[in-house]
Amino acid sequence: MTTDIPADQSRVLIFDTTLRDGEQSPGATMTHDEKLEIAELLDDMGVDIIEAGFPIASEGDFRAVSEIAQRSKQSVICGLARAQLPDIDRCMEAVKHAAQPRIHTFIGTSPLHRAIPNLTMDEMADRIHETVSHARNICDNVQWSPMDATRTEWDYLCRVIEIAIKAGATTINIPDTVGYTAPRESADLIRRLIETVPGADDIVFATHCHNDLGMATANSLAAVEAGARQIECTINGLGERAGNTALEEVVMAMRVRNDIMPFSTQIDTKKIMHISRRVSTVSGFQVQPNKAIVGKNAFAHESGIHQDGMLKNAETFEIMRPEDVGLAGTSLPLGKHSGRAALRAKLKELGTEVGDNQLKDIFVRFKDLADRKKEVYDDDILALVSATTEGG
Ligand code: KIV
Ligand code: ZN
Repeated sequence: MTTDIPADQSRVLIFDTTLRDGEQSPGATMTHDEKLEIAELLDDMGVDIIEAGFPIASEGDFRAVSEIAQRSKQSVICGLARAQLPDIDRCMEAVKHAAQPRIHTFIGTSPLHRAIPNLTMDEMADRIHETVSHARNICDNVQWSPMDATRTEWDYLCRVIEIAIKAGATTINIPDTVGYTAPRESADLIRRLIETVPGADDIVFATHCHNDLGMATANSLAAVEAGARQIECTINGLGERAGNTALEEVVMAMRVRNDIMPFSTQIDTKKIMHISRRVSTVSGFQVQPNKAIVGKNAFAHESGIHQDGMLKNAETFEIMRPEDVGLAGTSLPLGKHSGRAALRAKLKELGTEVGDNQLKDIFVRFKDLADRKKEVYDDDILALVSATTEGG
């Protein structure tokens, strides 16, 4: 059987779905050229699998997936398909140009989702067997997902996963479609599936979490600790409703806390900031300032105590280096909470030497200004220096 299991047991595959699940966010639609650009950046940063779109959804999606497949250099290129033979054929038509194509087919297996196509459990099981076998006949690399897995009955979940593995799926993805699970439950589910389902050792288990309760990153990492070896995620956590697991968060968490999460990825983390900004621009979804890793304030310190600590030793208030995610450095914006040390450092950076008395004078005026302004800029500081030099 063809599998994607990396020889290195600590290696976690990164499956990026910014161009599929991410683009499904209302209002996040990207143009053809923008999708090609983002795919190139993902490929270049070391993403293992790029889910490039949903080829049957529209002519535009089909063209984008086909062209991304033709251009990909190292990533596996994946397309999404419902559990219907025409969907799967259309998907293969699009991804076949890739050096490493993958078909990802899915069906909702929870009671609520089974009610939509109005299939009995047996009918759905037959459909899974038929569609996964068909996908595997035309493509060596097949991923199958029981949508809403975390709300699917345990026995039925085991049964359909076993069917999908026997039919040839090489990756089984466990979606927490509505962001309902919690870390301990996410880990237990993966651990028990690996222990219980026949054939589980021959395939890769993936985790696909949504962030409705703000737990997508924690749930994904818990699943990895329990044996999942593929994380599905998006840049900036883009995705429907509260979004998907954020790529930058899981990758940096495994890197910074490798002591307790000894897993590795092949992501070049220095490329994170650039792709985050590009995805934000092309999707029109601004990144919140306090967003972990990529927010504007993630490496900024305004308060006097923090700025003083940072000037003495960056590790005082930073657990990772801004350079490691592609930023030029820490920023110490001046505001009403800033202290004398940061003001002195700023003056030095601006090439201005002042004596102790003048510094005292500038500091008083600076505090007064900072009470009236959210942020004090370089030009404001230079104006204060002139005013105190002139004795004004
Ligand atoms: O959230 C979900 O269940 C999905 C599936 C299509 C995998 O995105
Ligand atoms: Zn999803």
